[in-house]
Amino acid sequence: MRIVTSIATMQQLAKKWQRTGKRTGFVPTMGYLHAGHMSLVKRARQAAGKSGVVVVSIYVNPTQFGPQEDFSKYPRDLRRDFKLCREAGVDVVFTPADKEMYPGETRSRRCESADEPRFDKRGYSTYVVEEKLSQSMEGASRPTHFRGVTTVVAKLFNIVLPDVAVFGAKDWQQATIIKRMVADLNFPVKIIVAPTLRERDGLAMSSRNKYLVGDLRRQALVLWRAIQTAQAAVKRLKAVPAEKLKSDLKKLIKTEPDARLDYVEFFEPDTLAPVAKVMRGTHMALAVFIGNTRLIDNAKL
Ligand code: PAJ
Repeated sequence: MRIVTSIATMQQLAKKWQRTGKRTGFVPTMGYLHAGHMSLVKRARQAAGKSGVVVVSIYVNPTQFGPQEDFSKYPRDLRRDFKLCREAGVDVVFTPADKEMYPGETRSRRCESADEPRFDKRGYSTYVVEEKLSQSMEGASRPTHFRGVTTVVAKLFNIVLPDVAVFGAKDWQQATIIKRMVADLNFPVKIIVAPTLRERDGLAMSSRNKYLVGDLRRQALVLWRAIQTAQAAVKRLKAVPAEKLKSDLKKLIKTEPDARLDYVEFFEPDTLAPVAKVMRGTHMALAVFIGNTRLIDNAKL
């Protein structure tokens, strides 16, 4: 397995694969890898084929974190990530540095003196913005989040030149926005959305689950309980008014002492358009603070 940190090196490798007809499967991540990430790697390997290559990027992207969010304390463990990737048969791990991805930008803006390296003088000022699907849910709660996601994913696609990229259904809105960006901007890449992997008790796997210590880990199950409650209601009643279901779920979330609902929404899975009546096939997504940790989950009902 090769570890690449330079953008130029990664791009040269990718161009060589393209010239020699090797299919590239790509999994973008922010690291602190878990079994959910590794299921995407497996899917990328399937899609690339035996003679293809699989690239995993590990990059905690500063532009998708708000000023009050957990960028600096986002969990990181590159050594362990490399080991997991090696064991999974990943060909290349791409881990670029902030100063190369966003020269002179972001939080690492300490490079203003005359003797700093030249790349930090170039600056950075181009962003990719999806304007419709990014407005609701995560986009409403985290206003510049998707601008950071679409920007970094567009950059990564231009660096890795993948034929196929795999995203998790865990971040349903993100995957939907990436599909839209790829269609709108004609990226020659196929997007695969792979299912959410869960712990045995139902908690969706997430790098942020590391923050759930003591009783918070138990309380975090309330997201999965909310999904199951909605699923049961739809099964029992066929069509349920969204507002009624929302207020029932709000009450359910309140039963946990450290849980605070950010949003729960019911929507069409492809367009993310909110529905007034929740039915079989309607998609549900929610965000809940468990203590200081913000968790998201979603499912088709
Ligand atoms: P990250 O949160 O590290 O997730 C990387 C990929 O793994 C995403 O496509 C996400 O949906 C998927 N994933 C996370 N948990 C999963 C689970 N339990 N089951 C299945 N897939 C899961 O999402 C990001 O990073 C970033 O926004 C990124 C796309 C890399 C851009 O910076």
